[in-house]
Order: sequence, then C-alpha cells, then structure tokens
Amino acid sequence: MPSTLTIAIDGPAGAGKGTLARRLADYYHLPHLDTGLTYRAVAQMLLAKGWPLGDAPHAVEAAQMVDLGRLDKATLSAHAVGEAASKVAVIAEVRKVLVDKQRAFARQPGGAVLDGRDIGTVVCPDAAVKLYVTASAEVRARRRLAEIEAKDGTGDFATILADILRRDERDMGRADSPLKPAADAHLLDTSEMSIEAAFLAARAIVDDAMAKRDAI
Ligand code: C5P
Repeated sequence: MPSTLTIAIDGPAGAGKGTLARRLADYYHLPHLDTGLTYRAVAQMLLAKGWPLGDAPHAVEAAQMVDLGRLDKATLSAHAVGEAASKVAVIAEVRKVLVDKQRAFARQPGGAVLDGRDIGTVVCPDAAVKLYVTASAEVRARRRLAEIEAKDGTGDFATILADILRRDERDMGRADSPLKPAADAHLLDTSEMSIEAAFLAARAIVDDAMAKRDAI
C-alpha cells in the first residue's frame, strides 16, 4: 500500500503557518488546504448579503455552499474578512459542516497538508505529523503590516497588534475547538526565524517523523 502523509499545521494568525504549509506541500508533492479560507468564505457570503455574522442559520447555509475548489484567496485574504471569519468560527454548526469538507480533503490518497486552528486536535487527530507554529504577537503584527504594505496598502502597527490580540483571544477562548497545540504537536516558534529557517526546521521534523514511522 502506498504510504500516506498527512501534515497538520495549526497556530495563531500571522505565525507564518500558511507559507510553511505551502512550502511543505510543494516539497512533499501533497495537495494543500488553507482551512482559514473556508471560514473566510462563510464570513464573506454573510457580509455580501448584509446578514449579521452571528446569524447561525444563514451561516450554516453559507457553510454548506462552500466549494473547496473555488476558494479565491485574493478576495478572501483581506484583513477585515479574517476578523469576520473568527466571529462565524465560534458557531458550532458552521464548524461541523466545514470540518466534514476538510476531512474529505484530508482523506485523499497519498495524504495532504492542512493548516488552520484545530487541524491536529479535531480535523485530523491521526495526522502523521502535527506542527504548532507560533510567534510573538509583536512579530506577527509586524509581519501583517509588511504584508499589507507590500500590497500597496497602509496600516497602523498598534491597530494591527490590537486586532491580532483580539483574534487570539477569540480563537483560543471559544468553547468549540479552541486553538491549542495537540498533545503530540511539535512546537515551532518562528519569532526569530526567517521563512527559510522555519521551512528547514519543519522539514527536519517531518522527515524525522516519517523515518520513525517507516522503522516500525
Ligand atoms: O487562518 P485565517 O486567518 O485565514 O483564519 C481566519 C479565522 O478562521 C481564524 O481567526 C479562526 O477564527 C477561523 N479558523 C478556525 N479554524 C480553522 C481555520 C480558521 O476557527 N481551522
């Protein structure tokens, strides 16, 4: 039987897990799903219709309509959509619908890389490798600001830092599937690391986990 490699990557907003997930997916030739985009898609549909973000029945309907093959990163990546996404992400019924879709993606032959907040704990508890990627809130805010400025936008460091801290609180404090490292996750603090250094560290963790698994 061909071996399956599922890599679960979790962490707070701006820790660099998205970049890391894409790099690992490229390197190991695996499909990649940024699960944050699924929550963002639900939030965007509600915003477009003018429905409140806490409107559970409409949010569930929107979640059912999410098509993993049609997630448009360009329109979903706006900072405000991320903030809105964290509000719909507290609705347990929305999570249930999206988690089913994410699990179907993870079950592909050969495996997959998924990144989000609850991948190692809820979506793929049996993943071969789990990474919990963090960085200090100040570093994450600085990176977010640089990202916005790279797209010709402007931002204010203090406002972005406050947004990040609020989002952390919402993601870590919610009752259903709060953001936390899985018991068997490898912690990777990227505060002092370049993207390349973080990628090499993550690769070493994955290779080591695969070697141990293959030795059994
Ligand atoms: O990762 P990203 O910033 O795109 O995620 C947006 C929001 O979606 C997060 O702040 C979080 O509230 C929610 N989310 C989640 N579970 C995931 C991925 C994202 O609750 N697996």
